[in-house]
This record gives sequence, structure tokens and C-alpha cells, in this order.
Amino acid sequence: MTRAVCPGSFDPVTNGHLDIFGRAAALFDELIVATGTNISKSRLFDPDERLEMLSEACADLPNVTVMGFDGLIVDFCREVEAQAIVKGLRGGNDYEYELPMAQMNAHLTGVETVFVPTTASLGYVSSSLVKEVASLGGDVSGLVPASVHDRLTRRIGERRTGA
Ligand code: PNS
Repeated sequence: MTRAVCPGSFDPVTNGHLDIFGRAAALFDELIVATGTNISKSRLFDPDERLEMLSEACADLPNVTVMGFDGLIVDFCREVEAQAIVKGLRGGNDYEYELPMAQMNAHLTGVETVFVPTTASLGYVSSSLVKEVASLGGDVSGLVPASVHDRLTRRIGERRTGA
């Protein structure tokens, strides 16, 4: 039985993430999509909201489970008995950012990181850009699942009115 963890902030999950989940799910018997907190990033959605959005978005992927985690990703991998971490790569910047984390995680527990290249047509999609464009009134409806788009529109409206 092969099991991998695909970790991220997923604030919110995008169609780029879903592309990686689907392709990683074809490589392993089980894939756990794990939402954690990147302490250096500001967040629009709280952990429960991110978990709900991920669960809805992954509902059609039979061997994918969605979980939250705190602390080190390597400890979570050990807890769920995963042999690998999966990360999507959009380009060189992602590689520069991800490589030391992969090496640190391998140093800590020996867990391997598998990099999956993003489908070219989705290479420009990131949660940060989606939030920025949406908050300035741009159309991001084709870049995130419909339920995420609804929540994003609502949250940005709330932020604008201070609700
Ligand atoms: O969406 P992101 O920013 O790529 O997600 C990063 C995340 C949450 C997966 C990463 O920050 C992480 O693994 N955090 C857990 C803490 C940890 O293990 N830090 C050391 C990494 S070498």
C-alpha cells in the first residue's frame, strides 16, 4: 500500500491544486491532502473553512482523503504512515522554494518528496494571485471550483464592508 501526503495552505484551493491532486492520486494507492499553516503567509480563510472547501473539491476523487495538520509535516507523515510528500511545481521559483524544504524533510525523517509538474495551462494559477485579482474585481471563476468562488466572493465582500 503506497500512501502520500500533499500538504499546503490551500487558502483557497484552486484548479491548479486539483490538477495536482488528481494526477498524484493516480500514482499512489492513497493520497492525503493536508491543510496546514504557513506562518509566513497571511490568510483569508480559517483552517476549518479551508478543510471544508478541500473536502467539497475532492469529493469525486475516491482515493483522496482531506485532513488538517499542525506542527511539522514530517510528524504528520509519520502519524498517517505516508512514505512520500507530493508537491506541485509551476516553475523554477517553486523549485527554489520547495527544494530546501524537501531536503530538510528528508534529513529529519527520511520521507521523500515527489515533485509533480503543473499542467502548462494552469501554470499561472496560485491562491495568492486568485485572491489579489478577485479582491480587485477581476474574474477568477474559471480558476477555482464554483463553491470556492462563492465563498471567495462572499469573504471579499465581508472584508470590504467590515462585516
Ligand atoms: O501553501 P504552502 O505555503 O506551500 O504551504 C506550506 C506548508 C504549510 C505545506 C509548509 O509551510 C509546511 O509544511 N508547514 C508545516 C511546518 C513544517 O514542517 N515546516 C518545515 C518545512 S521543511
